[in-house]
Amino acid sequence: MSGSSDGATASGEKINGKYAANYAEIIKNADGKYLDKAVIEAILGKDAAHGRDGLMDKLDPANPYSFEVDDSIDGGNHGNAQCKIPKAFVEVHENAAKNYYDDSKYVARGFGTPIAEAAVAKWNITVDGDGRGLPDPKVGMTVAEGGKIYVQFCGMCHGEFGEGAKGYLALAVEESLITSDMYDPAPQKAIGNFWPYATTLFDYIRRTMPFWTPNAPFIGDAGYMGMTGYMLQSNYIPIDDEGNVLEDDTFFNSEMLMKMNKYMPNQGNFFCDHRPVIHNARCMTDCDKTQIGDGTGDTNNYRQARLLPDGTPQYNVPERMNEDKPGVGHHGM
Ligand code: HEC
Repeated sequence: MSGSSDGATASGEKINGKYAANYAEIIKNADGKYLDKAVIEAILGKDAAHGRDGLMDKLDPANPYSFEVDDSIDGGNHGNAQCKIPKAFVEVHENAAKNYYDDSKYVARGFGTPIAEAAVAKWNITVDGDGRGLPDPKVGMTVAEGGKIYVQFCGMCHGEFGEGAKGYLALAVEESLITSDMYDPAPQKAIGNFWPYATTLFDYIRRTMPFWTPNAPFIGDAGYMGMTGYMLQSNYIPIDDEGNVLEDDTFFNSEMLMKMNKYMPNQGNFFCDHRPVIHNARCMTDCDKTQIGDGTGDTNNYRQARLLPDGTPQYNVPERMNEDKPGVGHHGM
């Protein structure tokens, strides 16, 4: 076929009379455009851009649905799928060329159509830690109403009170993540003992849950808000300095959520670690006993942290617990 006989194209070099290896360069030469006609030609040869037939002699016999494009990556024809152009590539490209190919408009030509604004809006729903993106305070429902929705759509997987069910993860556990004995089994992370922000909880469940139909219109912002309240109640998150918790008939909305955001119990345990990254030389033989196990040569005891140049242990997290709680807007975050 003509594509494979001309040795090299303007922007791409062929390997063993086969296919171009340097896509990165080809794509760069094409102004960062991926999969436009020129790029495909450069990679696969001229005929490739015009249909599968032109590619027949490039078929990898071990994989009829793909074309070998770069032997230099896997050092030969090892059937490395990542180095193939799948059949779908060609078909999508052909389709696009037939239906809406316009070199001046599409950067990633060949893949899909421009996304509709309504479709972007449905998922452009980020809520920030400072509350930006939360629904209007009028949107919400009582914690009890939120609980009903939760039981209907979430309880079968996470348990009626967030205790977990059928092997799906619990959303409320009583264990603290901070244990004084590092040999204790790792406690389960859940909302109350782990999540630093209540805003994230609302954002997360709205964009991901229920598992099979996230951002569900039949739940709506009010429903997601109510369920957020119910989960915060199940986790006994305080609503004030006195440690009061949500009542069943509390109207839960974005204002209440922001109020509770600063009472998330584990919030202060997230902080930027400004200690320097150090790399102590690894010792494999005749090691000084301070470098082994607990620092006295006991290999069964790994409690000993590595030491910083000034002699302080590198993993001194408990020592940092006495520092000011960082919280929202802390300058270190
Ligand atoms: C079919 C089972 C199923 C249903 C129903 C379901 N979830 Fe989930 N949920 C999951 C799975 C699986 C994960 C873990 C997802 C992951 O980590 O990627 C998860 C994770 C979560 C988490 C994060 C937990 C954590 O600490 O990491 C929350 C919160 C949550 N779900 C809330 C909900 C809510 C609220 C609903 C109802 C609107 C719901 N889920 C419905 C299966 C389910």
